[in-house]
Amino acid sequence: MKDSYGRKIEYLRLSVTDLCNYRCIYCMNEEGVEKKRHSDILSIEELTEIAEAAYSLGIRKIRLTGGEPLVRKGLITLCRNIRGISDDIELGITTNGSLLPDMAKELKEAGVDRLNISLDTLNPDTFRRITRTGTIDQTLNGIKAAIDAGFDNLKINTVLLGGINDTDVFEFLRMTEKTPVQVRFIELMPLGVVKDWTDNRFITVDFIENYLRNAALIKVDGVARVYQLPNHRGTIGLIAPISNRFCASCNKIRITADGKLKSCLHSEGESNLRGLHGDDLAKAIEQGILTKPLQHHLNDEGTATARNMNEIGG
Ligand code: GTP
Ligand code: 5AD
Ligand code: SF4
Repeated sequence: MKDSYGRKIEYLRLSVTDLCNYRCIYCMNEEGVEKKRHSDILSIEELTEIAEAAYSLGIRKIRLTGGEPLVRKGLITLCRNIRGISDDIELGITTNGSLLPDMAKELKEAGVDRLNISLDTLNPDTFRRITRTGTIDQTLNGIKAAIDAGFDNLKINTVLLGGINDTDVFEFLRMTEKTPVQVRFIELMPLGVVKDWTDNRFITVDFIENYLRNAALIKVDGVARVYQLPNHRGTIGLIAPISNRFCASCNKIRITADGKLKSCLHSEGESNLRGLHGDDLAKAIEQGILTKPLQHHLNDEGTATARNMNEIGG
């Protein structure tokens, strides 16, 4: 269906938990998040019903997010259920990759089409500094497990953190020479714990273009401009929510693990979906889509959401 500005809404980002086994410095506090009661988060049945209702309204792409979606009990069942709704749904997951060595094959068999894996650095010490609790080998092994399980079109998400990982860009570009993945550099968005960070942490993707003088712009893929260096197997994506607002072509809605529909990542407004079923549920989602704002105001007023990223899922 279309929103009130004529944008076709086809993409649902469904957060299945706000918990995570990492504590990334830009995502949550060191203490992590308090575990909610079971009854406070959407059950696998509710998540399935939401996916069904969204499909009935024209959603054709569902991305499961977190927190870290792979820590959610019942995730494999949810993937199977969503695949059971229709083969016509593109089902993706955005994960920190650490649990993929045990789960990649099962996810593939459950009908997941694509994985995006967060990896902000190729330096083990910086990885520890950013994730606070993780080790780089976990995520690198996860990427390998995903490739071995037959996932193609893998994307690596690298959030640019000025003074922390901006010196890693060259190494990531080298990674795309032999590895058939899309490495995406993402501008850090000031929400949640990041809101109070100093200006030097926020860098735009522009400086990466200096490294891409020989590269070809091959496509625009969702929110990313995608380049390829000569004779490289992989590609490079630039995601610039700050320097190049892409709201005009936004095709997505989000649902948080506690059952609130957010029609924009940065908006304050949320509508409750819990307790609704069948036509009532579909109507509430439709209503949410119709309230989708034209654009975010990060560059002037700042974000309006009070949530941390682990509660929204990116
Ligand atoms: P694909 O299905 O591969 O296109 O995935 P994706 O890029 O939509 O999802 P992913 O979870 O990998 O997100 C990559 C980055 O883009 C994250 O930092 C998200 O927060 C950011 N992002 C995705 N969609 C939006 C959006 O609509 N607005 C903003 N501001 N950022 C977004
Ligand atoms: N700005 C940009 N991207 C972010 N992510 C998490 N927090 C932020 C932020 N403040 C990324 C994660 C993950 C994706 C879901 O969103 O690294 O790849
Ligand atoms: Fe976990 Fe992802 Fe947040 Fe890091 S960014 S703490 S991996 S949810």
